[in-house]
Amino acid sequence: MSPAPDDFRAAAHTAADLVSDYLDGLPDRPVWQPMEPADRKALLQAPLPEGGAPLTDLLDFIGAGVMPAPMGNGNPRFFGWVNSAPAPAGVLATLAASAMNPSSAGGDHADVHLERTVVRWIAELVGFPHPAGGGLLTSGTSMATILCLAAARGRAARLAGWDIREDGLAGMPPLVAYATGETHSCVRKAAELLGLGSKHLRTVATGPDGLLDVAELRAAVARDRAEGLLPFLVVASAGTVGTGAVDAFDPIADICAEEQLWLHVDGAYGAFGVLDPEIAHRYAGLGRADSLALDPHKWLGVPVDCGCALVRDTDELRGTFSLVPSYLRDEAAGELGWFSEYGMEQTRPFRSLKVWATIAHRGRQGISDDIARCTALARRLGEMVEADPELELLAPVQTSIVAFRHRVGGLAPEAVNAVNRELPVAVQLRGRVFVTGALLDGREMLRACLLNAATTEADLELLLAEVRAVGDALTERSAAR
Ligand SMILES: Cc1ncc(COP(=O)(O)O)c(C=O)c1O
Repeated sequence: MSPAPDDFRAAAHTAADLVSDYLDGLPDRPVWQPMEPADRKALLQAPLPEGGAPLTDLLDFIGAGVMPAPMGNGNPRFFGWVNSAPAPAGVLATLAASAMNPSSAGGDHADVHLERTVVRWIAELVGFPHPAGGGLLTSGTSMATILCLAAARGRAARLAGWDIREDGLAGMPPLVAYATGETHSCVRKAAELLGLGSKHLRTVATGPDGLLDVAELRAAVARDRAEGLLPFLVVASAGTVGTGAVDAFDPIADICAEEQLWLHVDGAYGAFGVLDPEIAHRYAGLGRADSLALDPHKWLGVPVDCGCALVRDTDELRGTFSLVPSYLRDEAAGELGWFSEYGMEQTRPFRSLKVWATIAHRGRQGISDDIARCTALARRLGEMVEADPELELLAPVQTSIVAFRHRVGGLAPEAVNAVNRELPVAVQLRGRVFVTGALLDGREMLRACLLNAATTEADLELLLAEVRAVGDALTERSAAR
C-alpha cells in the first residue's frame, strides 16, 4: 500500500534534513572507517520483512545504519580511485527524477528531450563534434566503451564485406585493436565481450612521458597487415587512470585516417580536463576521434551513475544496436528514433536531470574553475612530493592525478615495492586521508586523484604527512625482518 501523501511530504522533509546533515558533516568525520562487525552483519543478514514499516522508520534505519558507513568520497581528503563528491544540485535532481520515474528509452516526454540537450552540452564542454543523435548517457564508461567498440567493430566488418549482425564473427580474419598498457581494463573487457579476443588487443609501448608511442603504433599496424589481420581500432586515453596521462591525439588521428582505423578515446576520468586553459593544449585533436567515452559521474560530480558515449557518425551506433519490435513502434518518434536504438538498455533511467542540474548550477565557467582548481592542486602536490626526500614522483603531473611512492632508502627493490603495496590500506585505516595504489611499470605506487575543488593545500600536507608516517613505520618493520 502506498503511504498517504502527507506521510510522504513529512518524510521528505526529514529526508532533506538527513541528507543536508550528512553532506555538511562530511569534512569533519573520518574519511573512511571499516564497518563494525555488528553493523555489517545487520546489513548482510537483515531478514526479509513480512510486514511493511512507516517511511519514518525507514529513514531512521538509513540515518543510523547506512549513512554512517560511507565509502569516503565526498570528503575533501578522499584521493582514492576516481570517485568524486556528489554535486549538490545533482543530489536534489535525483529525487525529482525518481519521483517521475520514466523510462528514457524514447517518446515525447521531458526526460528524453533533456537527455538530447545534456549530451549536446557534454559534447560542447569537451569540444567533440555533435551530430544530432550522436550520443547517449550510459551507466558509466565501461558501458559506453562497449557501445563505441561495437560500432567500431561493425564498421570494420562492413568494410571487410561482412555483416556481423547476421553472420557473427566466425570465419572473419581477426580484427586487431591497439592500446597502451595504461589503458583502463574496461577496454579489454569490451574487446573480450565483443569476441575480438584479448590477444588481438595489442599493447603499444609508451614513451617516457607515458603517452602512446606513435612510431610503435605505426609499426604494429604494418606488422599485423603483413600477416593478413585486420587492424581496425586505436584506443587512446584522455587521462589514464594510473597517472592521468593524455595521449597526443593529433598524430594518432593522422595514422587512423591513413589506415582507416577507428579512433576511440577513453575520457572517463580526464576528458573534462580540457576545460582548464592551463592544460587544454594537451587535448589538441580530441575532436578528431570517431568516438569518445566519458563520465559525468567522475570529475563533474554528477551522482553515480552517469557515463556518456559520443560518436561522430550517428548511423554507426544506430546501425549496430537498432532493433524495433512491433510493440516498440513509435511513428511519432521523429528521425532520430529512440535512445534504445543506440545502445543495450531498453528501460533507461532518467539520468539527464542530474546532469542538467549539475551543469546548470555551476555553468561552464564554474565547472572550468573547479577543474582548474583540481589541476593546480595536483601540480602543487607534485611539487611537494618532489621537494620531499622521503617521497618520489613517478610521473609528470599532466591532469589531476599524482603518481608517487615512499622512497625507502637502503631497501631492496622488492622490499620497496612491498612497503608501497601495503601503504594505501594502512593509510586508509587511520581515517584521516584516503589514497589508493596501483602498479606502474612494475613499481608499486600511490596515486592521489584530485576531483574535489573543496580540497585545500592543508589537506595535501596531511596526505603527505600520513604517507610519510605510515611509510616510515612499514620501512622500519621491513628493515627489522
Ligand atoms: C580512465 C578510465 N576509463 C574507464 C573507467 C571505467 O569507467 P566506469 O567505472 O564509469 O565504468 C575508469 C574508471 O575509473 C577510468 O578511470
